[in-house]
Amino acid sequence: MERSSQGCSPQGKLEKTDILREFQTSFFSMSRLVSFPWTTLERELERSKSSNMILEVLKMTCLHPLCRRFPPSFRFRKSFLTELIRRQEAAGCEPLDELYDALAEVVGAEDTSECYKSYLLPSGEAVSLLENVALISDGTTGLVTWEAALYLAEWALDRQETFSGRTVLELGSGAGLTGVAICRSCHPSRYVFSDCHPNVLQRLKDNVRLNGLVERTTPRVSVEELDWTEAAEERLEQIGADVVIAADVVYDPDVAASLVTLLSNILCRSSPQVFVCSTIRNPETYGGFKKQLGDAGIDHHVLTAPVTHVFPYSRTSTIEMIQLRTRPP
Ligand SMILES: C[S@@+](CC[C@H](N)C(=O)[O-])C[C@H]1O[C@@H](n2cnc3c(N)ncnc32)[C@H](O)[C@@H]1O
Repeated sequence: MERSSQGCSPQGKLEKTDILREFQTSFFSMSRLVSFPWTTLERELERSKSSNMILEVLKMTCLHPLCRRFPPSFRFRKSFLTELIRRQEAAGCEPLDELYDALAEVVGAEDTSECYKSYLLPSGEAVSLLENVALISDGTTGLVTWEAALYLAEWALDRQETFSGRTVLELGSGAGLTGVAICRSCHPSRYVFSDCHPNVLQRLKDNVRLNGLVERTTPRVSVEELDWTEAAEERLEQIGADVVIAADVVYDPDVAASLVTLLSNILCRSSPQVFVCSTIRNPETYGGFKKQLGDAGIDHHVLTAPVTHVFPYSRTSTIEMIQLRTRPP
């Protein structure tokens, strides 16, 4: 289904620049093709009987310099261009050489297991990440960006003061979207990405470097191995986080207990603000996690709230954001 129109004119019509921007954000994050604003494009093509708008869409997507540097997968680009051609033909517009040239570039290419996804920030800057095409690969879920990471990043962008000037520790960072977005936009003084899987840690390091965070002096950024199943008390103390965040880390009942123990250690040490953002796929697993929190003397407060839509993703999943606090004696 096409996404609802953001950035409407007073008459309620999507402005041309908004349509182009919507195509661009959806293209670079490799959103599902059905979510692109095709109907609006088709209307414009039928009205103008010209391919100009298609050319503008191409310039914002396949012909954009970002696509040269951080290209989405061949298969995705091929499907996108095929759909553009279909819409153009349906509207009876003149054929566009640039469209067929772009398709020729990708049509014979063999697809790879990795591709780039770029998530555009309100500033116009892109967070570009190398991600795997498959949701689960190399025995981990950490090589792709999940919806809870996107929601948590949007939540942070709306509350920059929570992160500004502070040391932030992220648990289970995965591909790194939330952290890179916070480092770019929320001015933390230090940001510690962490995970446990060796391939995820390597990918995190690569993605952090790709986004120019290594060269910067602020925030100070590091990528660390932090396995919830191993006591890391000394390391937690050294990090001394003011804020601890985690996105989509509650999905495996087998590791929930170690995560709760780690969160309990974190809260006991220096009482940082702790936020956990979860997609609730299995209410039993999530309920079990909350029960274990309660048993460990940790209260949770639900903070889920509407956020400014920055990234294109399906808003139909149930995402819950909670803040954790040690129960007062
Ligand atoms: C579903 S992914 C979420 C990744 C990222 N936060 C996101 O939302 O896109 C879960 C992440 O938790 C990490 N993880 C799972 N078990 C872990 C453990 N015991 N210690 C540290 N990280 C773990 C995985 O490696 C993976 O990166």
